[in-house]
Amino acid sequence: MPGKIPREFIDQLLQRTDIVDVVNSRVPLKRTGKDYQACCPFHDEKTPSFTVSRDKQFYHCFGCGAHGSAIGFFMEYERLSFPEAVEELARLQGIEVPRELSDQSPAKDLRPLFDVLTQADDFFRLQLRQHPTAGKAVDYLKRRGLSGEIAVEYGIGYAPPGWDNLLRELGPRFGSPLLTQAGLITEAEAGKGYDRFRDRIIFPIRDSRGRVVGFGGRVLGDDKPKYLNSPETPVFHKGRQLYGLYEMTKALRRPEQLLVVEGYMDVVALAQQGIRYAVATLGTATTADHLERAFRLTTEVVFCFDGDRAGREAGWKALRLVLPLMTQGRGARFLFLPEGEDPDSLVRKEGAESFERRVREAEPLSDYLLKQLATEADMGSLDGRARFAEAARGHIEQLPDGLFKQMMWRRLAERSGAPIEELAPKAAPVSTYRRPVFKEPTRHFRGATPVRQAITLLLKEPGLALLADLPADWRALDAPGISLLRELMDVIGQEPAIDPGRLLEHWRAEEAFRHLVVLSGIRPDIPQEGYKAEFRDCLKRLQRESWRQEFTRLTAQGGGALSLPEQERVKLLAKLIAEKG
Ligand code: UTP
Ligand code: MN
Repeated sequence: MPGKIPREFIDQLLQRTDIVDVVNSRVPLKRTGKDYQACCPFHDEKTPSFTVSRDKQFYHCFGCGAHGSAIGFFMEYERLSFPEAVEELARLQGIEVPRELSDQSPAKDLRPLFDVLTQADDFFRLQLRQHPTAGKAVDYLKRRGLSGEIAVEYGIGYAPPGWDNLLRELGPRFGSPLLTQAGLITEAEAGKGYDRFRDRIIFPIRDSRGRVVGFGGRVLGDDKPKYLNSPETPVFHKGRQLYGLYEMTKALRRPEQLLVVEGYMDVVALAQQGIRYAVATLGTATTADHLERAFRLTTEVVFCFDGDRAGREAGWKALRLVLPLMTQGRGARFLFLPEGEDPDSLVRKEGAESFERRVREAEPLSDYLLKQLATEADMGSLDGRARFAEAARGHIEQLPDGLFKQMMWRRLAERSGAPIEELAPKAAPVSTYRRPVFKEPTRHFRGATPVRQAITLLLKEPGLALLADLPADWRALDAPGISLLRELMDVIGQEPAIDPGRLLEHWRAEEAFRHLVVLSGIRPDIPQEGYKAEFRDCLKRLQRESWRQEFTRLTAQGGGALSLPEQERVKLLAKLIAEKG
């Protein structure tokens, strides 16, 4: 694992980068006055509502609301992770990304590994076309209903029978140690390696950028093991990779949902039938890493399992894993297939339309959770319902705070008959309780709290923080988002020339980031000339609130308990509130 990218580097990189060039390299832009425009790459449109601002170093689509910095653009458009997007920006600038030293092994040059894997991929694909025994592999794929096009799209290949086909082809050029490291060669003793994949259909596994990182190989008959996968290598981690993810993003830029299935053949067979949003785990259980990846691409994940006991158990495991990830706007559903079927067999038997109906009707997480627990309890008895409530509670507590969690508490109360106050946990003690930055997102300027309005304005025009004679007495206010507002003001104070894009990136790694992203997408419904007055007014309102809060706190203690300075402060506050509040 490479070390962390230092934050200062990201800031410098963004200073050297012009978002107009970045976007223009992917989506040709037209100049319109101060800004640049194009038809939005993130939704279908005929008239351009996608705007890129050089001053702000920010893009925004007035049609679909997509917005962000140069890094955000690469992440969205190229489907890159954050470090990958930084790498790509740095590459455009011709600079190396420094890494902080981590405890793990120092960052290694992975290019030779990628290189040898690409060559192996070419070799396997060529064998499917040329090897004397390729006929039986082609027949096998045909028997399983695959067209040539789909086989090409998924890069399916063939490892011929024999111990050293690949070794002879690539050994002289790359050497056994590298082939071994790439997982292509198995070494019984040092120097005595042989091909890992022999007489198998080969499924290349690609990372999110389309680079081959490993392979899965299936026997043509009934031999064991049925599938053989690449071992863990520096570039291949089963717990993170999803088979078919890259191919999916090539076919669908923004899938509405992502179907997680169990097998290579399931993904390919579904694609063959036009269902392009399936991905598979690689013979391992779903991990949180998998899910984070999935939710980067879509808002809804549908888990698909066999209807047998193993499938049910895997489903429950997936449910427990996904609970803490169910933040606002995300969804998860569960689809159990009839016994003895998998997506491949079922979609071929009943066709895409019926299969997609099953996907649409898949059980929402909330139903699945409560139903499953209810079947395990005796809901007819008081005891049983209490046990049911107790079990469900442990799971609901895993959900992130928000509307969905509240609704689940309410439903649990209804189902179990227990009062909601008894079920939902009491507020945690202050010492360990981390107040969420904001409770719920707002998408409008009018009606938002002054804190949110102030932050929204700063994200549009950081220079507002530098205005002379701003109200200053708001900093002690205890309200959601206040500390974030303070941080924003401080960062701008230290870096007066910062643009909105860079400002936003300061919080990339933090909890507050997603709130800032939402707020940066809001268009204040006032003319830009009005921002200054509006911002000043926000701080004024916060200041007033802060005075009142302090006044109430001090006077609540009773006059006698106050020290002299405190009594003075109360008098001053009373005067300020009377005059300006
Ligand atoms: P299944 O046994 O359900 O096979 O394995 P399948 O996908 O239906 O395969 P076909 O239809 O017979 O070709 C599901 C997944 O589990 C992993 C593979 O990733 C496979 O796609 N697996 C299975 C292995 O890694 N090794 C095995 O021996 C079997
Ligand atoms: Mn199968």
